[in-house]
Amino acid sequence: MSTFTIDTATSRAHPTPAPMKRLTVPAVRARKGGEPLVMLTAYTVRMAQLLDPHCDILLVGDSLGQVIYGLPSTLPVTLDMMCAHGAAVVRGSYHALVIVDMPFGSYEASPDQAFASAARILAETGAAGVKLEGGETMAPTIAFLTARGVPVMAHVGLTPQSVNALGGYGARGRTNEEHSRIVADARAVAEAGAFSVVAEGVIEPLARTIAAEVACPVIGIGASAACDGQVLVAEDMLGLFERTPRFVKRYADMAGMIGDAAAAYAAEVRARTFPGPDQVYAPK
Ligand code: KIV
Repeated sequence: MSTFTIDTATSRAHPTPAPMKRLTVPAVRARKGGEPLVMLTAYTVRMAQLLDPHCDILLVGDSLGQVIYGLPSTLPVTLDMMCAHGAAVVRGSYHALVIVDMPFGSYEASPDQAFASAARILAETGAAGVKLEGGETMAPTIAFLTARGVPVMAHVGLTPQSVNALGGYGARGRTNEEHSRIVADARAVAEAGAFSVVAEGVIEPLARTIAAEVACPVIGIGASAACDGQVLVAEDMLGLFERTPRFVKRYADMAGMIGDAAAAYAAEVRARTFPGPDQVYAPK
């Protein structure tokens, strides 16, 4: 368990014991077929501090739109939001590779637009790379970015930014046509230079095929244990929401803990038993 000392000049929390060196993109890429990659989302400095010692990758996902901002989808998420949260996660982490999602509308128009957005994200956050959604269509953009020094994590299968085109968040790859298209998408983004690929919400045999056929690590979410790693939204696996999607396993009941703590606090405030003698300042 790490403890943190706050540097008041920079507001940076320094962990004790000293952390290991931060993982690099080549080190993550080299994990293909090896020890599974552990990835969780993080959006805030404190969550980054808590998750960092256990994770290889922290993803500043655009799922922050729903999780942090209560938005109905990821579509309204902006570059400003991603940069602010990305910088917080980099400040709170020392070991994990930090990847920041490119929000909807910040990269699809052209490779030039994608480069300008990615350059802003890397410069303002200190993250090591970006993630973007899309398969064959985005392959030229991925090639453009990687050739210019921007590491790209791709994202295929269920791509939430395309929710309107897909018609919902259901699992993908149930028809032969869709199955073949998603395999082609995964191949295309890997061949274009993506250092890893997120495969989201795809039926298990499809995830296995992708993991077997693609040269870089495939990180699954609602996919298969055969992937080279797994990612979940941290708040989902911590049990912060009542609804748990099928692919999520709850490792804690944080909603219950927070509710219980808030109820105990409210009861003590109403009974005037908080603050007690330990929480008040005595006169000199
Ligand atoms: O935005 C996000 O959190 C993601 C993960 C669920 C892969 O893209």
